[in-house]
Amino acid sequence: MKMRGITARTKQHLFSGYKKCEVRAAETALPLLIRRNMNYRTAVLKEANEIYEMVQQTIKSVYPSYYPAEVVDFFCEHHKLTAITQDIEAGNVSIVMVDGRIVGTGSFSGNHITRVYVLPEYQGRGYGTFMVKTMEEEIVKHHNSVYLDASLPAAQLYEKLGYQSIKHEKYPVENGVVLAYEVMEKKLGFGEDPIYTRRSIRKFQDKAVDMEQIIKIIHAGRSAPSAKNRQPWKYILFTGDKKAELLEQMRRGIVREKLEKAKLPKSKYGILDAKITLNIMESAPVILLVLNINGKTPFLQIDTDDRFMEMNDLLSIGASVQNMLLMAQQLGLGTLWIGNTCFAYDELTGYLKTDAQLVGAVAVGYQAEQPSARPRKSITDIMEIVL
Ligand SMILES: Cc1cc2nc3c(=O)[nH]c(=O)nc-3n(C[C@H](O)[C@H](O)[C@H](O)COP(=O)(O)O)c2cc1C
Repeated sequence: MKMRGITARTKQHLFSGYKKCEVRAAETALPLLIRRNMNYRTAVLKEANEIYEMVQQTIKSVYPSYYPAEVVDFFCEHHKLTAITQDIEAGNVSIVMVDGRIVGTGSFSGNHITRVYVLPEYQGRGYGTFMVKTMEEEIVKHHNSVYLDASLPAAQLYEKLGYQSIKHEKYPVENGVVLAYEVMEKKLGFGEDPIYTRRSIRKFQDKAVDMEQIIKIIHAGRSAPSAKNRQPWKYILFTGDKKAELLEQMRRGIVREKLEKAKLPKSKYGILDAKITLNIMESAPVILLVLNINGKTPFLQIDTDDRFMEMNDLLSIGASVQNMLLMAQQLGLGTLWIGNTCFAYDELTGYLKTDAQLVGAVAVGYQAEQPSARPRKSITDIMEIVL
């Protein structure tokens, strides 16, 4: 779609590289299923009609399940023959051909993907993903982000490809009907940046982690800023039998919380989640317990001065833990930040024989899963500009 703001500025850039993008599918790392008889290349003018027909056919068969007739008409008009012809003339249209037939088309302009359609009977085979990724490869040469306006049926698919909604938009069409769509963004060129590639890992390989790696992680943790440079953090490492002993205490706490008098009655809904977290901790080769050495048990009341001090110390520890997660990511290790230790607070601190405040834990290990990015609030939801 090409409706406002973001799209307007994309016109400024025409990429020479795109025209060269005559990718024989067999040369790429595509799954076998979609390589056979497939050809991907830049469209030429004489193909405008066929592309137009396939886009219209796709819109008319898919969109009525999601949108009223007025919106379907809007999309048909938006992707009219003259629009497609103009895009082809600008060198901006690619096509996927299977057995000599055009079954998919993609178009982008600047850093905006403006059109991706795959004939219904060819959907679910990876052609759409292939076109999006190929367009991203071109876009990343000149931009750090790619944007697109996603229709309702497409938004979930784009999320799986790493796009995040940055805005819910509405656009009035005929008869008072409003088209709702998502403006989505994907950061490109940050592929190796652990800030963007880190995920919470909940499945670990049965493989030990070198102590040297752990020291590097702790080193990153101690490099964090801290209020008044108090460095209120302490990390206690558990592996093997000692880890099993520790987690037995956590299990005891969770059972007590569930079956006996709960110390966190309003958080009862979280007990099942805590059990799941405990299982994850059992499968992780390393558990780091996180302590605030200036803090006391949260079951004691504190005055406002102490509360502010505690807030600052916990913020400092949060910065330290994040440093550790990012370092672990750079070292090829996965992590899970854990707050569910709260359900076994007394059991765990009793086992440690400490008066310090138990803040949580971090599980570390070689990951056995590759989760997609979890959804994030949009920039506009979390940011306000005061002028
Ligand atoms: C302070 C804190 C406590 C957390 N506690 C738990 C936990 O006990 N169990 C768990 O499975 N995940 C826990 N998480 C992980 C979050 O669920 C996760 O960060 C969030 O869903 C976003 O996913 P991502 O880390 O993959 O981006 C915790 C995260 C933070 C920052």
